[in-house]
Amino acid sequence: MHPLVAATPTPVHPLPRLAKALGLEPEQLWVKREDLTGLAGGGNKARKLQHFMSEALSGGYRVLVTGGGPQSNHARMTAAAAAMNGLGCVLVLRRPETEDLSGNLLLDRMLGAQIHWVDPIPFAALNQSIVDIAGAHTQKAYPIPIGGSSLPGAIAYAQVAQELSTQLTFDLVVVANGSGGTQAGLAAGLGDHARVAGVNVGAQDGIDAFVTDLAAQAAAALGLPTPNGAAQIDHGRIGLAYGVPTKECEEALLLVARTEGLLLDPVYTGKAMAGLIAWARHGRLDGKRVVFVHTGGLPGLLSTRYTQWMGAALVDS
Ligand SMILES: Cc1ncc(COP(=O)(O)O)c(C=O)c1O
Repeated sequence: MHPLVAATPTPVHPLPRLAKALGLEPEQLWVKREDLTGLAGGGNKARKLQHFMSEALSGGYRVLVTGGGPQSNHARMTAAAAAMNGLGCVLVLRRPETEDLSGNLLLDRMLGAQIHWVDPIPFAALNQSIVDIAGAHTQKAYPIPIGGSSLPGAIAYAQVAQELSTQLTFDLVVVANGSGGTQAGLAAGLGDHARVAGVNVGAQDGIDAFVTDLAAQAAAALGLPTPNGAAQIDHGRIGLAYGVPTKECEEALLLVARTEGLLLDPVYTGKAMAGLIAWARHGRLDGKRVVFVHTGGLPGLLSTRYTQWMGAALVDS
């Protein structure tokens, strides 16, 4: 593990007051704090950056180049990893350029990243821009794909599943699924898809088969058996679209904040927790010990878009 990136192992602790509010026993509900990995606000992408950073440093690269949306958590964490290792950072972000300087974008700039705006182009084209911009850079520049799923990220989460298994005995983990790498890795590490419940946040289509395949690849890379079954993903929590918060997500953020003092984000962890809450209320978690994997994202809540949304929600709560 490289000493200059993620703060691991991350802690695990119970959520007894939330459990009680959901009609569960106090010892039934736990959280794995992947939001405490460091890197200017933390989150699941730190584990993957660990891998990319050691490749970049050993290859003598001077600049990291990555990209995503204006509120990308992965972009902000890459900017932090670059700063703490003395490298430059270019972030290739999709317009709107009018996005005001708040949330992750504010932190990107504070961390010294250079922002390269591009028109809203598809995922593959944006990944190609990252490669092109790195290739044209005056210094040796290391391209990192958008915070999407890749084998190193899934392998890192297979190792997180093993880390978690040394911390606690449990039946099920619940996690947000954006591009699927985190869920795939957890399933690979636990050896069984039935022990990982993913909640689709609507970032990408066709994630079911993708997660099952990626989990098999991650397991193979680590010499582990192919996980049993197929990816378990709840597709019912997206609402209107990726990034558009739902009423259930609003309830989840406020309930978790007020029972446990724990802050979730509106794009990923809030929708994942909305899934967990619905399953608890339908009796699907009865008799199980469940670990919610908090994958971070808090800086996004502090962007103007979401502070306005939450501000409006607080008027009637
Ligand atoms: C805070 C947060 N949680 C969860 C995810 C989803 O992770 P994955 O893409 O591995 O499904 C992301 C991805 O960007 C994220 O930023």
